[in-house]
Amino acid sequence: MRAPITQCFSRAAVTIIVTATLAAAATQAGTIDPDRSTVLITGSNRGIGLAFVEHYTAAGWNVLATVRSPERANELLILAEGYEHLIIEQLDVTDNDRIAALAEVYRGTPIDLLINNAGILGDLEKQRWGSLDSSTFEQVLAVNVFAPLKMAEAFADHVAASEQKKIVSITSGAGSVSPDRGAGSFPIYGISKAALNMAMRKARAELAGRGIIVALIAPGTVATDMLAAALPNRFAAAKTPAQAVAAMASVIEGLDDSYDGRPRNYDGSVMPW
Ligand SMILES: NC(=O)c1ccc[n+]([C@@H]2O[C@H](COP(=O)([O-])OP(=O)(O)OC[C@H]3O[C@@H](n4cnc5c(N)ncnc54)[C@H](OP(=O)(O)O)[C@@H]3O)[C@@H](O)[C@H]2O)c1
Repeated sequence: MRAPITQCFSRAAVTIIVTATLAAAATQAGTIDPDRSTVLITGSNRGIGLAFVEHYTAAGWNVLATVRSPERANELLILAEGYEHLIIEQLDVTDNDRIAALAEVYRGTPIDLLINNAGILGDLEKQRWGSLDSSTFEQVLAVNVFAPLKMAEAFADHVAASEQKKIVSITSGAGSVSPDRGAGSFPIYGISKAALNMAMRKARAELAGRGIIVALIAPGTVATDMLAAALPNRFAAAKTPAQAVAAMASVIEGLDDSYDGRPRNYDGSVMPW
C-alpha cells in the first residue's frame, strides 16, 4: 500500500505542490467567453485589486487578473478553481517587455475595462523631510505613474475594440493639491498620485478620439496592507475592500461620454483637485 502523501513530504512541501498545481491549472484552464464583458486588473492578488476580481467574477465577467507572483496568489488560485472565466497572468507593471508581451497575447481580445490598481506607498522613512531618497521616488513613480500610462498605451486597441471602452486608474486624496488636502506623512506617494492624475489627463487627450473613457477614482480609506502601513490608526474604521469596490464599480458603471475627466471619489463626488 502507498504511504499517504503527507508521510512522504513535509506539510510545507505539500502546500507548495498543491499551490503549484493550482497555478498551472488556473492559468491554463481559464477561458474568455466572447459574450461576456472583460476586465483586466493589475495588482489583483490582495487588497482592493483582489476585491475587484471577486466583484467582477461574481458579476459574471471574464476577468484577467494580473499579479507579480501567480504561484503565491492563493486566494486567486482558489477563486479560479471555481470560476472558468478567471485567468491569472503574471505581470510586474514596471516590466515594459512583459506589458508588451501580454498585450500581444491578448491581441484581438476586446477589453471593456482596464483597471490600473497596482500601487505602492514606498518606504515611509525614505520620504520623510530630511531623508528624501531619489531611488524611492523613482520606484514609486514607476509603479504609480508610468505603469498605468504604459498599460493604457499598450491596451488601447483592446479597449477601443470593446463595447464599454473604459480605462480606470485608482488615485488617492493624497494626490490632491487642494489647500485642505494632500498634507500627510507620505509625500512621495502623494506626489505620485498627483502625477497619475495628470498622466491620465494626457492619456484621455490621446484616447478620447477613439471613444475611450479614461477615468480616475479614489477609494477613500480602505482596510488593506497599504492603509495599515500608512495610517494604522484609521484601519479599524476604514471600509472593507469589498465595500470600496462595490461603490467604485457603481461609479465605473455610470461612466459615460458626459464624464469630464476630473478624479471622482468612490461615492461619485468630485475629488478636489
Ligand atoms: N487602501 C487605501 O486606503 C487606498 C487609498 C487610496 C488609494 N489607494 C490605492 O488603491 C490601489 C490598491 O491599493 P491597496 O490598498 O489594495 O494596496 P495593497 O494592499 O498594498 O496592494 C497593492 C497591490 O499592488 C501590487 N503591486 C505593487 N507593486 C506592483 C508591481 N510592480 N507590479 C504589479 N503589482 C504590483 C501588489 O502586489 P504584491 O502583492 O506582489 O506586492 C498588490 O497586489 C493603489 O493604487 C493605492 O494607491 C488605496
